[in-house]
Amino acid sequence: MTMMKQAQIRQWGSVDNFEYVDSVIPEALPGRLVVKNCAVGINPVDWKTRSGAGISGMLALDEPIVLGWDFAGEVVATGPETTGYAVGDRIFGMSAFPDLGHCYAEYIQVKVGDVAKIPENISFVEAGAVPLAALTAYQSLFDIAGIQPGQKVLVQGGSGGVGHVAVQLAKDAGAQVWASASTRNQEFLSTLGAHPIDYSQDDFSDFVEYFDIILDTVGGEVFQNSLKLLAQGGCIVTCPDPSQISEAREQGYDAHWVFVRPDRVQLETIAKALGEKKLVVHIQQEFPFRELAQAHRLGEGGHVRGKIVLTF
Ligand SMILES: NC(=O)c1ccc[n+]([C@@H]2O[C@H](COP(=O)([O-])OP(=O)(O)OC[C@H]3O[C@@H](n4cnc5c(N)ncnc54)[C@H](OP(=O)(O)O)[C@@H]3O)[C@@H](O)[C@H]2O)c1
Repeated sequence: MTMMKQAQIRQWGSVDNFEYVDSVIPEALPGRLVVKNCAVGINPVDWKTRSGAGISGMLALDEPIVLGWDFAGEVVATGPETTGYAVGDRIFGMSAFPDLGHCYAEYIQVKVGDVAKIPENISFVEAGAVPLAALTAYQSLFDIAGIQPGQKVLVQGGSGGVGHVAVQLAKDAGAQVWASASTRNQEFLSTLGAHPIDYSQDDFSDFVEYFDIILDTVGGEVFQNSLKLLAQGGCIVTCPDPSQISEAREQGYDAHWVFVRPDRVQLETIAKALGEKKLVVHIQQEFPFRELAQAHRLGEGGHVRGKIVLTF
């Protein structure tokens, strides 16, 4: 029996609740791969859920649990019905969301339907950073908003995990893209290909009834203030929570909340975009697995540029 470390929590609360515990490496069940983790992306849902918000209400905590959904690593065992995968393959994905992903662990077991192969020219860190953010951006822009070439798109929070991917996907789809962030991120937004808007200095009065699509990754007042920026027939998709959707719809807006789901075909599209450098992931900081608490604290600050990644 071979053992590994995993980071468990026994109760919702602060980062002090993480415990590194010895645990048995999972076996490869049918349709599943065992992966030696190399990089695990941190998402807001990780720290929100750990604190008792996020999707904690959907998860039972009657025994210790392991959070974390994004991963990138190497296949070390294949179960039956995993045709197309072999030991040694480099894969990444968003595991089991919104069930527990168990990715804060040295080894994990993942469903083949949740994974894709990592292009040769992409590192584990780049790949592990991106699945949940990229699937969210993709599903918002393509599945919900039906983005078309030439449309005017605003990404509120364009420098964050979801936002910086969304800007690049929207540009690649042929849209004209604007993005908001604070002063320090204006140049970053330009390098992504967006027209930058500084939310701390600019007002949005030039953009009333202007955008065909708004992707709101910030929520609250930013969502409310975005509504008047929608052109006739425009569509707004928000990520943080669905609390304002009904009221916006009652006012006649085409408003949606995205709830990300694993999708192998979309993940393969994202992998291709990474390999072709049409999508470049910005990594703000890497933390060793042992520094999970510090990684969560940085994420909770709300001002990450791009992504934070745990390395193993
Ligand atoms: N429903 C779903 O399926 C789903 C999926 C993914 C994410 N989400 C949610 O979507 C949100 C965004 O996720 P994320 O991973 O992109 O978060 P993130 O990486 O933590 O976003 C941080 C970014 O937000 C920017 N920001 C903060 N306040 C802003 C404001 N007032 N206006 C414009 N930009 C602002 C920051 O830019 P500055 O530093 O320049 O301020 C920073 O770059 C989170 O609430 C997350 O839980 C939901």
